[in-house]
Amino acid sequence: MTQAVTSQVVILDYGSQYTQLITRRVREVEVYSILLPGDATFKRVFEGNNPTAIILSGGPNSVHVKGAPSVPDGFWEECEKRQIPVLGICYGMQLIVHCLGGKVEGLGKGEFGRMPVVDIPTHTKLFGEDIEPQNVWMSHGDEATVLPDGFKCIGKSEQGCVVAIEHETKNLFGLQYHPEVTHSEKGMRTLKHFLFNIAKCERSWSMANVLEEQIQIVKEKVGETNHVICALSGGVDSCVAATLVHRAIGDRLHCCFVDNGLLRYKEAERVMVMFKNELHLPVDCVDITEKMLSELKGVSDPERKRKIIGKEFIECFKEYKKTVEKKTGVVPKFLVQGTLYPDVIESCPPPGSDQKHSHTIKSHHNVGGLPKELGFELIEPLRVLFKDEVRRLGKIMDVPRNFVARHPFPGPGLAVRILGDVTENNALETLRLVDEIYINAIKEFGLYDEIWQAFAVHLPIKSVGVQGDQRSHSHVVGLRAITSNDGMTADWYPFEPKFLQEVSNRITNQVRAVNRVVYDITSKPPSTIEWE
Ligand code: XMP
Repeated sequence: MTQAVTSQVVILDYGSQYTQLITRRVREVEVYSILLPGDATFKRVFEGNNPTAIILSGGPNSVHVKGAPSVPDGFWEECEKRQIPVLGICYGMQLIVHCLGGKVEGLGKGEFGRMPVVDIPTHTKLFGEDIEPQNVWMSHGDEATVLPDGFKCIGKSEQGCVVAIEHETKNLFGLQYHPEVTHSEKGMRTLKHFLFNIAKCERSWSMANVLEEQIQIVKEKVGETNHVICALSGGVDSCVAATLVHRAIGDRLHCCFVDNGLLRYKEAERVMVMFKNELHLPVDCVDITEKMLSELKGVSDPERKRKIIGKEFIECFKEYKKTVEKKTGVVPKFLVQGTLYPDVIESCPPPGSDQKHSHTIKSHHNVGGLPKELGFELIEPLRVLFKDEVRRLGKIMDVPRNFVARHPFPGPGLAVRILGDVTENNALETLRLVDEIYINAIKEFGLYDEIWQAFAVHLPIKSVGVQGDQRSHSHVVGLRAITSNDGMTADWYPFEPKFLQEVSNRITNQVRAVNRVVYDITSKPPSTIEWE
């Protein structure tokens, strides 16, 4: 991708939940990697991307199932011709065995979880020096029972299954376990050995290069006279994207922060100060609170709320476009969006789903996704990056920690955290106070960075309590805190009882409208992160 990138690893996705993790692991050691769907064409794999090495991911299929994903025709010959090393992981290893004339069978036992790899010969190409037994993370049903010609087994499980193979001269390797997960003790060492010693990858992927290159791309695309608009949400992605574009074109960037009346406690005031004082970004705050709340009055259905909010946002943006035109005399032509790599990856569909590969993006999450009718060309400087890379990019541009380490906040804001009509019962004010107390306590106890997202929810029910020796009939609030990698799956955060006790006391003492606090202990799935 960038001119500075001299090595590139292509990862073919066969649907494992760990595929994105492999891609990130490779990038962590400063080698650029991209993810392509398992059924990518020959041209896309080889001509479009010029791989230094190829990794075939794991996946839930069995190679024997009709229509199971495979590599494109001519793949093995091309790898041999160009001497591209290939590492197959889990399903990827079974593909190597199956395609090259070996045998993969489902023997009905399977191996799942942590287990040792034994019988590693003294001389192997893939393990290098790591010949001692090692614990790894296994997850497979089928196993390789006959290896193709020229391959040797370089590791077995305690049950006797083949879990590591190599063809030394053709540079083809297979691991039945997942080297990318931390439970595989030496997994990262094996991966690095494959990348640097076998494939001779160079470390050329750095955020400094990305920054330089993206600034150049933006400059070229926008030219000398055009103007650009960006909707800032106060979250890390739009903030980093805007800072980068501002570096490229200066004050021809016009940022707009919409106060939709559904923001957290003092959010608009606080972020506007940060934009001005710390980021030195030109930002206009547009307040549409009154209109938004009047449109939302009487609405309880979550999807209708989202639609109304989306529509009002677009109206507001149309107006903003006109404002910029009036101010500058030029119709702004471009729009900055903080689209990230996981939003554009095409992932392999689950077996039996009859789907073509699907985009992981959920339409309601694409808040920046303004309709085509607005007539903008897009600028998406973060399109190749994972969230942790965006944070690093923000850091090298001196974006304050307050911004880069912020928890995600949904576009429809507190509207999806107030169950029922958001305009009733003073719910917005109550929720803002509760949320502020909760988040401050999380920060005070030093837990903010351990938690992926935390927030409070206003429930439409009242319960009986005793406040100040008097019987009360007040609202219940729920607290949610989760850990996650990408928001697609999540676990609830196990707070110490002391913390929960303290927070509950603070909330019920300081917020009159609340007499009961509950903590949400459901993971995603089966729940979602938000309550609506
Ligand atoms: P769920 O509730 O779907 O949330 O498990 C996953 C992540 O997405 C955020 N979220 C939204 N973000 N518009 C957004 O911009 C939305 O309508 C929306 N709904 C959920 C949620 O906060 C979590 O980070």
